[in-house]
Amino acid sequence: MAKPDPYLSTIPPLAGTNPYLMENFRSVTEETERSGPFEIEGAIPPGLDGILFRNGPNPSVVPDPASYHWFSGDGMLHRIVLRDGEVLSYKNRYVRTRVLATTSGTKAPRGPREAIDGPANTNIVRYAGRMLALVESGLPHRMTIDLDTVCVEDFEGLLASPMTAHPKFDPATGRMTAFGYDPFGPPYLRYHEFDDLGNLLTTTSIDLPRCVMVHDFAVSATKVAFFDLPVAFDLELALEGNRLPFAFDDQIQARVGVLGRGEPGTRIRWYEIEPCYVFHVANAFDDGDDMIADVVVYNRTFDLGVGGLLGSDLPRLERWKFPADGKRVIRTPIDDRALEFPVIDRHVAGSSYNHTYGALFGRRDGLDRFPGYVKYNVNTGGSARIELPDHLQGNEPLFVRAQDGKADDEGWLVCVEYDRSRDASDLVIYDAHAMSTKPEARVHLPVRIPFGFHGTFVTREQLS
Ligand SMILES: [Fe+2]
Repeated sequence: MAKPDPYLSTIPPLAGTNPYLMENFRSVTEETERSGPFEIEGAIPPGLDGILFRNGPNPSVVPDPASYHWFSGDGMLHRIVLRDGEVLSYKNRYVRTRVLATTSGTKAPRGPREAIDGPANTNIVRYAGRMLALVESGLPHRMTIDLDTVCVEDFEGLLASPMTAHPKFDPATGRMTAFGYDPFGPPYLRYHEFDDLGNLLTTTSIDLPRCVMVHDFAVSATKVAFFDLPVAFDLELALEGNRLPFAFDDQIQARVGVLGRGEPGTRIRWYEIEPCYVFHVANAFDDGDDMIADVVVYNRTFDLGVGGLLGSDLPRLERWKFPADGKRVIRTPIDDRALEFPVIDRHVAGSSYNHTYGALFGRRDGLDRFPGYVKYNVNTGGSARIELPDHLQGNEPLFVRAQDGKADDEGWLVCVEYDRSRDASDLVIYDAHAMSTKPEARVHLPVRIPFGFHGTFVTREQLS
């Protein structure tokens, strides 16, 4: 077992009154590697074979509760290896960013220097045989499968500015698409297409009047949509030293731009929309010449100031249509129940599909809560929920299709849940077709996994 890194053992159990430093938002205190078997209720489906990776913010030094923002904590990766119905091991490691080197004395990564170093705390994806730890405020960090930091990745110097934590992957070819927004623009937005071998092929600039926060985007077979929504860079907040100097401004015209893939950014077509915000896109696809995107929408966010909850509103799933012959987004609500972290079967990315899944989302006692999961059939409007008992909370569920699965709900939801009664985390597997409240398996993990953002399940087949 690896020894705890003494530089990273500085967090008290409860660090203050900031909601993102409380309960299961608070950091874990050390880096750990443990071999299984671990205590298990039920049985892990033997076909679920691979590695679960998760990423989330985990401050390495005690932050000031008055100014800490959930999006700014140091990225910590968690890795759980499943094979033949067993959990073989658990491991967690910080991404060795330059921020971490400065605050905690860890080794700085190789690779290009950035104007502002990012915390690499939002997502981890597999692309072209690499693992990439991602945050939208910085360049990717290339990681090994064992969670060692290799370098800051700028794709041979071609990636000119920070890259989104939500790149998209063509399930047939493995090609990647991505974008990045740049407070030091213009251009404030760039769109990138990559091949399947790790090469950045093309970049085009999108003309925006100002820097806005753009967390995710929508990609179909022939089109890509960018969200120019009014969470805007605020110079005053930046000059005050705020690490996330963005604020909601409903005086700014909200709009979404649709661009044909392969076209220059100057050809983008803008659709106006009421002020709102989208962090996450479930999926997008072509509908004849029109484009459709299923998105999780906030009426407002980044509107409560520094040191508190992210925003005043809770988000709902909507279908947005971008008619080829129109200028307005056509919005259709799918549900009035709040959710976040929408996911799909990776095999249906960019094409028409049936099912999306997400974490139920709410607030209680001043804290964000994830009281279960939801599955939607986006075509019929049907839904199914897994409501957790009071002492449990979920987070982003990942869908993994069974090897013999034919549909985008024939597989499992792979989740990490927080059990308040034990102040501990479980790996929990649900049958995504049945959506039964009783899981297939619940595995007690040796280390608590704080609420984070995103992860990926890499099957053994993808690793070989
Ligand atoms: Fe995200």
